[in-house]
Amino acid sequence: MLKEAAARLLEWYQVNKRTLPWREGNNPYYIWVSEIMLQQTRVEAVKPYFQRFLAELPTVRDLAECPEEKLLKLWEGLGYYNRVRNLQKSAQIIVEQYGGEMPSEYEELLALPGIGSYTAGAIASIAFGRAVPAVDGNVLRILTRLEADPSDIAKQSVKKNAEKRLLEMMNAEECADAIREKPGDLNQAWMDLGAGICLPGGEPLCDSCPLKELCKAHERGEETAYPVKTKKLKRRLEDRTILLVQDGERIALHKRPDTGLLAGLYEFPNLEGHLTEQQVLAWVEDTGLFPVQIQPLEPAKHIFSHVEWHMKGYLIRVASFEGELRENYLLAEVKTAEEKYAIPSAFSAYARCLQLQLGPERPERR
Ligand code: ADE
Repeated sequence: MLKEAAARLLEWYQVNKRTLPWREGNNPYYIWVSEIMLQQTRVEAVKPYFQRFLAELPTVRDLAECPEEKLLKLWEGLGYYNRVRNLQKSAQIIVEQYGGEMPSEYEELLALPGIGSYTAGAIASIAFGRAVPAVDGNVLRILTRLEADPSDIAKQSVKKNAEKRLLEMMNAEECADAIREKPGDLNQAWMDLGAGICLPGGEPLCDSCPLKELCKAHERGEETAYPVKTKKLKRRLEDRTILLVQDGERIALHKRPDTGLLAGLYEFPNLEGHLTEQQVLAWVEDTGLFPVQIQPLEPAKHIFSHVEWHMKGYLIRVASFEGELRENYLLAEVKTAEEKYAIPSAFSAYARCLQLQLGPERPERR
């Protein structure tokens, strides 16, 4: 069944594959960067980040040597900033241990920071033609539907089992030549089927599916009953007050500590809880600034993986300031903040109040 599904899928892929920037050429470094970006964001959102990242850091060596501030700026808005830190750590290892050339074996890739079985499989198969699977949520969704399998795909054991079966199938004697020649195409075919046809969270487009005749869930009309996935724990809710402190053209920023949530990134000063105007003014005065005007801003919400911020905000204009701010605080022109400091998307609602654009798609400023 798995073998038959794979053969049909590969045939379908030759005609229906998506044209994507990281599929042009076969640069292992490009494929690696794209896979890390795609772990957290949709294909369409990744494209501009991918293009800008590789224009700035075209080789593994460039990535290994990139100053942290610039690196975080290139990742601004993608979230999960430890992923880009691991990307750089791995690049440094590749420079030191492999002379700057990406290793081609699955096990070597798996040993690098930030590369798990999915990413190692994707790079080894797509860039180096190794017959290893790349099992992510898409593959698990398709497989459990195909087999009407009620296993909980949140369990590591279910993923391990799928990897084992696919690995065996891809290396079996009787496996189609096409799979042996292009294992990366098969892995990407699962991805494209998952993204375009065997959709998550709703009705899949079974009429267009090359696996329709093989699919047990479809036969039973129970496509949406799969995959079974236990819910993650509830997120912690946190109230925060965000302060846009403006001195003429400049805006106050704070550098976050080097560990914990959003480590090392820049943010608008913010305080725990929902504070009143009086409390905010007292805090601003405490930092040595002189507020001349305060205006409440619209509330906003941001969802991280484990925490949800419920924010209220204030725009506070202060008298122009000449001295040094407290440690880890600075005043920056909006344009400089946009070009230089990585500010996470949690603050994007408030950045918009300043016409400060986060991420790669900034309009050119006059
Ligand atoms: N999602 C994750 N990796 C992908 C890839 N190589 N192509 C398309 N979608 C993906």
